[in-house]
Amino acid sequence: MYNNKVMEIFQNPKNVGELKGANGIGTVGNEACGDIMKLYLKINNNGVIENASFKTFGCAAAIVSSSVATEMIKGKTIDEALQLENEAIIDYLGGLPDHKIHCSILAKEAITEAIKDYRKKQAKIAKKAQNQKDKQPATKELKVEEKTKKIEDATQKMEATRKRLSLFGKKEDKKVKKAK
Ligand code: FES
Repeated sequence: MYNNKVMEIFQNPKNVGELKGANGIGTVGNEACGDIMKLYLKINNNGVIENASFKTFGCAAAIVSSSVATEMIKGKTIDEALQLENEAIIDYLGGLPDHKIHCSILAKEAITEAIKDYRKKQAKIAKKAQNQKDKQPATKELKVEEKTKKIEDATQKMEATRKRLSLFGKKEDKKVKKAK
């Protein structure tokens, strides 16, 4: 049913297993056959896929397609990876039986889901950073308020001292006048 290339990759698939430090994970399933595929991506800050791996409870075509797909997207940007069509996987394999075409589609869908997951996580990180940034001016304002209050307190004390001194000065003047 499968050609030699497919069999060769099936016997030695690449990028199998969970990927530590993955920041994009996509899980997809095929309702018709009940197979499931989980794809892991490690994407750097420039949006380049540094590493990719997969786990699948699926048929030989799904395993082979995932192996090829993960190899194809390594080193690509996420936008480039999204352009990957299952036909490219099939071409690389030298063909798949017609009733196994959907297995290669599963690999493509898993990549799309993993990238969606990555973008969602990035958006959350960006939101958190923005919230922290927004909080900073409030802290600054609080410090300015504290300083202003201290200055006002000091001014009031000085004013009280000035009044006391002024009263004391008046009393002294009276004493001097009386003595005269
Ligand atoms: S038969 Fe289900 S993925 Fe291949």
